[in-house]
Amino acid sequence: MCGIVGAVAQRDITPLLLEGLKRLEYRGYDSCGIALHKNGELIRSRSTARVTELKKQVEHANFSGFTGIAHTRWATHGKPSNDNAHPHFSRGRIALVHNGIIENHDELRAELCGFGYVFESQTDTEVIAHLVDYLYQGDLFEALQQAIKRLRGAFAIAVFCRDEPHRVVGARRGSPLVVGIGPNEHFLASDAAAIAGTTDQIIYLEDGDVIDLQLQHYSIVNAEGNSVQRQINTVQTHCIAADLGPYRHYMQKEIFEQPQSIGSTLEGITHVTPELFGRTAGNVFNNVNSVLILACGTSYYAGLTAKYWIESIAKIPVQVEVASEYRYRDSVPNLASLVVTISQSGETADTLAALKHAQSLGMKHTLTICNVATSAMVRECELAYITRAGLEVGVASTKAFTAQLAGLFLLTLTLAQSKHQLSEEREHYHLKAMRHLPIAISAVLALEPQIMAWADQFARYENALFLGRGMHYPIALEGALKLKEISYIHAEAYPAGELKHGPLALVTKEMPVVTVAPKDALLEKLKSNMQEVRARGGELYVFADANSNIESSEGVHVVRLPGDYGYLSPILHTVALQLLAYHTALVRGTDVDKPRNLAKSVTVE
Ligand code: M6R
Repeated sequence: MCGIVGAVAQRDITPLLLEGLKRLEYRGYDSCGIALHKNGELIRSRSTARVTELKKQVEHANFSGFTGIAHTRWATHGKPSNDNAHPHFSRGRIALVHNGIIENHDELRAELCGFGYVFESQTDTEVIAHLVDYLYQGDLFEALQQAIKRLRGAFAIAVFCRDEPHRVVGARRGSPLVVGIGPNEHFLASDAAAIAGTTDQIIYLEDGDVIDLQLQHYSIVNAEGNSVQRQINTVQTHCIAADLGPYRHYMQKEIFEQPQSIGSTLEGITHVTPELFGRTAGNVFNNVNSVLILACGTSYYAGLTAKYWIESIAKIPVQVEVASEYRYRDSVPNLASLVVTISQSGETADTLAALKHAQSLGMKHTLTICNVATSAMVRECELAYITRAGLEVGVASTKAFTAQLAGLFLLTLTLAQSKHQLSEEREHYHLKAMRHLPIAISAVLALEPQIMAWADQFARYENALFLGRGMHYPIALEGALKLKEISYIHAEAYPAGELKHGPLALVTKEMPVVTVAPKDALLEKLKSNMQEVRARGGELYVFADANSNIESSEGVHVVRLPGDYGYLSPILHTVALQLLAYHTALVRGTDVDKPRNLAKSVTVE
């Protein structure tokens, strides 16, 4: 989703801004742009192509400057076009970039038109640029503070002014914005990774903060307009590894990294203890009587899987909510609930808002399972488990999901221990199974040739059904989501028992049915559901376990996972489904790492 980089320095910052944009590319965007202060004027270049194209344009035009801002845009208001790309100018005096959504842009636009402002784009952002210009009386910091009082919605803003050549001003509400501190130079970015290597001294601005960046100093005011100090953190951020190694796509690389990512996530864990989740976790876990999980997309499916685990092993009731729904519905808070957010990025706007909503209802025990230690989610929660999947570049989440599952299984065991539901013997049994995961995942990855053979056939379909039962129902949901995200095949998932309550009407030979069929207590029931599909001419693609006792036959294609994995089986079956989605997308020739319309980090609601 949109990305911001800005700088004020005593050197040409053009390469630094372009490199920042390059690092933000993985979040997803459809246009990009840069504006600089040069010889008393604002100069700008924008493109609906990739950042490398923008770079060529900028080099061709011989751009340079000591002060400037740059942006990658993921369209919300107005189609991807040069005119809609940021930065937006106002009267050749103000240059501004923005992440987020301004809800009252229509009313502000009408007002500003009344003052003679002429709009060149359909964006909500241009409204802010003109508003800042309208309020500008020689002090950009002051003008932005006044302007944001008029804005409703979420934003991170970076702005500079022709008449104040050594100043960049920023503000945030809802969308993240960080400040980089260097010697006589300062930076703004939506993500610390954008300025990694330039500085490791980072301030995470808080909601409502407005920052004034000049060469030698900076200052911050909070939402109330009071001058505040914010902590400076030394942050080791990673840059995206450009090297794909032997892989064609980041998604493929990330699927194959799962033995290591799970290994790293579980590294050093020799026994179950609340301290894995934070200093105060022991006390918190003893005092909670239920769990409320909040997440979006794939992370939500991780939560659904965890519900099966926690209720079965720790015997605590679990509620799992789609964050974007929970934040707006009337719910009945249980103040003794542990609120668990799950997020790869830690910046998902809906999940952050749902967390704040739960807190505002009086739920004070919060924990996040998150892949980014420096993210807003980790900062907002009392407790955290940082999955160590490493940076995930592919928009479709793979290794982050399985690392979340590993973290959630550990949480399950820890809660079980706190509730006296875990004997030492069971603790050793489960930890041994977890330690075996990297080897078990490698064995599933070795099935790739068989799954590739399926993909050739599968890529011809336009629809697919996915079935699972029990804790594999969320895995069927995840398999369907992966397939639709990257191959654009319409896919839906059902708990297999629901088949005859409706979806069976869809089953013909044109509707393949992917079945997650582990060897568990529900296998015989699942086999009956599969018969119902075959009786209607539906083709079955079955992921079975070694001892599932399901054989290939006409219309029944079986790939057999090498073992059976008990409670951890969802992790292994996920890997097989990821490979099916990936290879199907390859055959269809889609943009696997950057599927159309999607963004990696969903920082608007
Ligand atoms: O960063 P998060 O885990 O909070 O992101 C949540 C979803 O946006 C994300 O899982 C999305 O569904 C992925 N594209 C799935 O592959």
